[in-house]
Amino acid sequence: GLNTAHTRVVLEKPLGHDLASNRSINHCVGQVFSERQIYRIDHYLGKPAVQNLFALRFGNALFEPLWRREHIANIQITIAEELGVEKRGAFYETTGALRDMVQNHALQLLCAIGMEPPINSHADAIRDEKLKVLRSLKPWTAETLKQDVIRGQYGAGAIGGAAVAAYRDELGVNPASQTETFVALRTEISNWRWAGVPFFIRTGKRLAGRDARIVVNFRPTPHAIFNSQIGMANRLVINLQPKDGLELHLLAQGQDNRKNSHTLAPVQLDLDFDKRFGHERVGAYERLLLDVIEGRLNLFVRSDEQEEAWRWVEPILTHWQADAQGPRPYAAGTWGPSATSAMIARDGFCWSEEC
Ligand code: BG6
Repeated sequence: GLNTAHTRVVLEKPLGHDLASNRSINHCVGQVFSERQIYRIDHYLGKPAVQNLFALRFGNALFEPLWRREHIANIQITIAEELGVEKRGAFYETTGALRDMVQNHALQLLCAIGMEPPINSHADAIRDEKLKVLRSLKPWTAETLKQDVIRGQYGAGAIGGAAVAAYRDELGVNPASQTETFVALRTEISNWRWAGVPFFIRTGKRLAGRDARIVVNFRPTPHAIFNSQIGMANRLVINLQPKDGLELHLLAQGQDNRKNSHTLAPVQLDLDFDKRFGHERVGAYERLLLDVIEGRLNLFVRSDEQEEAWRWVEPILTHWQADAQGPRPYAAGTWGPSATSAMIARDGFCWSEEC
């Protein structure tokens, strides 16, 4: 008798390990609770930076005309962690970075960047638009699975000057483990707004820093009249953590104008939300649990979104199972396997910390 119209159930990931198991969980829960009673948490949606991304895109008209293939060269989503698997080795062995971070957090960020403006701020209006992004993700082919997805596993290295162990030496981890602690991939959203624009996603444990950010690289000027025109001069960086804020990168006239040399220098406009709004803002989980109590579903994931994300991720899992190569090693404290830079270079781009 506890399940009344006001009852809510909160589900925390992992919700399944593939499409079939996710569907069976959703089906099972759906037999008892209606969709509007079910709150599937993705704590990345509760991060203040993600809500600010919605505010930036749908509360301001400034960027909207630029937010498309004609003006954007590529988009990079990075979720880097310094932490290893800590004491969760046994759990992580059955999960890996693709299931742990890409299927949910990274794809939700990609939806927030790529979605069309919703018709209003109601939960289903937002979730309908996110679902359309997931449905538009370019299907994998044998070739793209090979070239555009990289898995890695950390070896021993140093974080902040201290030596750290390899993944295979962590508690609860098989010494011959093939589990990936790093994934980088390239995809596209096949629709009118984004056709042809590469979206790069990268996430991993024991990387060079704790750093989650989305970088929007705008196209260069069509014609250069200054001596020192720099490739990707215009860039919007949405910092999720450890900083929370926006950076707009522009070119300005440099200091040395004695020679009238038209030398341009990169400058950065910073909007630091921590400074502007203070550190006391509620954290992601607090925010989401408050939303549960108050019955707001906007920042929760609907079953069809989740299933679509699994459908897109599943060919990667299947490909890896059959691929004898296994994850590429990388030293703890670096930015992952070197193949990650080679992948982005194929499109003529580089990761934002490289250029
Ligand atoms: C969780 C993953 O969902 O997100 C963890 O299971 C990961 O492996 C964590 O460390 C990262 O969250 P945050 O908020 O610290 O970036």
